[in-house]
Amino acid sequence: MQDTDPHAGARPARKTFPAYAFIAILAGALLVAFLVASGRIGPGRLKPADIIDLMQGPEPHEGFRRAHAKGFCVSGQFRSTGALQPYSSAAIFKPGATAFIGRYSTGGNNPTAPDLQSPVRSLALAFSLPGGQQWRTAMNTPPVLPVRTPEAFHAQLAAMQPDPATGKPDMARIMAFMKSHPESANFLAWQAGYKPTGSLATERYHSINIFHLVNDSGRERAVRWAAAPQAPAGPPLQDPHPDALQREFATRLDSGPVVYDLVFTFAGSGDPVDDVTALWPADRQTVVAGTIEIGGWEPQAGGACGGLNFDPVVLPDGIKPGHDPILHARGAAYAESQRRRAREQLAGAE
Ligand code: HEM
Repeated sequence: MQDTDPHAGARPARKTFPAYAFIAILAGALLVAFLVASGRIGPGRLKPADIIDLMQGPEPHEGFRRAHAKGFCVSGQFRSTGALQPYSSAAIFKPGATAFIGRYSTGGNNPTAPDLQSPVRSLALAFSLPGGQQWRTAMNTPPVLPVRTPEAFHAQLAAMQPDPATGKPDMARIMAFMKSHPESANFLAWQAGYKPTGSLATERYHSINIFHLVNDSGRERAVRWAAAPQAPAGPPLQDPHPDALQREFATRLDSGPVVYDLVFTFAGSGDPVDDVTALWPADRQTVVAGTIEIGGWEPQAGGACGGLNFDPVVLPDGIKPGHDPILHARGAAYAESQRRRAREQLAGAE
């Protein structure tokens, strides 16, 4: 009786199980084939670990960030004027003050490198907004990158690896790389004209990547932002101490906060909005959203910024990531770097 009853239990179930398993295996195989064919996974696919392996170099500094390893923590307030409110619904742009934790750094993977030898200076900020939202931004002194894809960035890192014979970067190899990437022209022009100022407080720091502001009506505008210093630039520092920039900054804070304007630049029609090597014309609309006021600092070891990861795709409602692939590669790379240093710190490094 049970053999012919369609509602009977055990035996019909045994018959259908292999069919479900077959369908599941087939669906899985199709998914893998699709991901490989679309380049999302597979042997040729660039992984965050590939980038971090090159960034950290042959002898990693355990417990430290794999990029911008040298730095210190700062804290302060962002005072919004409300001027950006018509363009973004983010709570931080309503008139008022929002506290932040920040970090100044110099480029490179060496946490004890002399400050004045670094070609790049940086400012990162993390804002906590109502409702548990966060905005994190990591900005550098150049306004553009030399390359526009994660693959080219990986190749650039490979070209910048120290020559095993000298332990130093091979300048001829780096220049050959730049020559084979003509999109690096804007970066090279910036580099040729850049004169480091005498203080971290007097540099201009750029988002480089492009983001989209979204207002209350859902209208989107492509933007870049920058922290523009209010203090005038002084001559280059002469202090031979490896922590010259940090020492100058600490002394400067004794006489009052360090202040920047947070300036948003809007893309004009036809401006490239997914290319981190492209500059926009200088006459584009800008809006000063408010001031970044830094009032305190502390060492990164044990400091509030030490365990933070200034992942640039951590954004509040009202700001969306743009579409350039470098921005999204940054998110994954910052996480990989943080995983490595956190694991090493747990094991006793730093
Ligand atoms: C678009 C231009 C970029 C800017 C403005 C930028 C800026 C910064 C800054 C300021 C920091 C230090 C953050 C801190 O103080 O903790 C940083 C860290 C880092 N950056 Fe970038 N970066 C850029 C591109 C990239 C790219 C393309 C990659 C790799 C795909 C990358 C990988 C990293 C990593 C791994 C860290 C350390 C993360 C951590 O352990 O917390 N960056 N970057």
